Amino acid sequence: MLSVSGIAKSFGGVHALSGASLQCDAGEIVGLIGPNGAGKSTLVNVVTGFLKPDAGKVALGGREIAGLGPQRISDAGIARTFQNLRVFRELSVRQNVEVAYLRCRQLRPDKAQSVNVDALLAEFALGGLADAPAGSLPYGTQRGMEIARALATAPDILMLDEPAAGLNEEETERLGRKITAIRDRTGAGIVVIDHDLRFINSICTRLFVMDQGRPIAVGQPDTVWRDPKVIEVYVGPGTTM
Ligand SMILES: Nc1ncnc2c1ncn2[C@@H]1O[C@H](COP(=O)(O)OP(=O)(O)O)[C@@H](O)[C@H]1O
Ligand SMILES: [Mg+2]
Repeated sequence: MLSVSGIAKSFGGVHALSGASLQCDAGEIVGLIGPNGAGKSTLVNVVTGFLKPDAGKVALGGREIAGLGPQRISDAGIARTFQNLRVFRELSVRQNVEVAYLRCRQLRPDKAQSVNVDALLAEFALGGLADAPAGSLPYGTQRGMEIARALATAPDILMLDEPAAGLNEEETERLGRKITAIRDRTGAGIVVIDHDLRFINSICTRLFVMDQGRPIAVGQPDTVWRDPKVIEVYVGPGTTM
């Protein structure tokens, strides 16, 4: 479904990505992990059109989409959330979600049939807050709203950049169950970036580990955690998963 390969991206002299790759099939939840600065967010920015790659391929369902802008890529079926929130603060919660839904209804009417804005608001416990300005809500609630907004585009691929950051243990477990339920309900492929490795392990069936802009390991979690390179650059010796 999503197939990303050979991505290079430099900022001035900084090679943020050199040969980065990622795959995600429909109905699969994959983890994209690695130390700070590994290039995870840059890779998501490239895949979702917020950055243009210097080289490499991004294919969605066999269609080459590298270099398209963010709106076109969203229209093609890839939705995301941001490591640093990007919500329309002045708009109400419902409007934030509706803007995404209306665009989808216009451009992908068949897909939009599966989306129900009220049900999405309810799923993220936003029903009672629907008319509140999004910027007035607590941080964690805004994060939930961002996921609801992404889902309002009826994505085939959903990319979540550190969705559990700032959540406590109970909230993180609830988020994990929600992500799995979203996958079950929509059949979308979901890419999750996070540093909470227990959280990642509890929902992902395949992991892509990056360091310094390249992949260093790919596979099922139990294999990846035993990989000497992963232990060296990321997990540290003596850690049990
Ligand atoms: N807009 C930018 N301008 C300059 N350097 C950037 C920019 N975005 C990311 N970088 C650099 O690219 C590298 C990868 O960053 P990032 O993708 O944010 O890593 P991660 O998400 O894995 O922590 C880092 O060295 C970071 O400083
Ligand atoms: Mg990041």
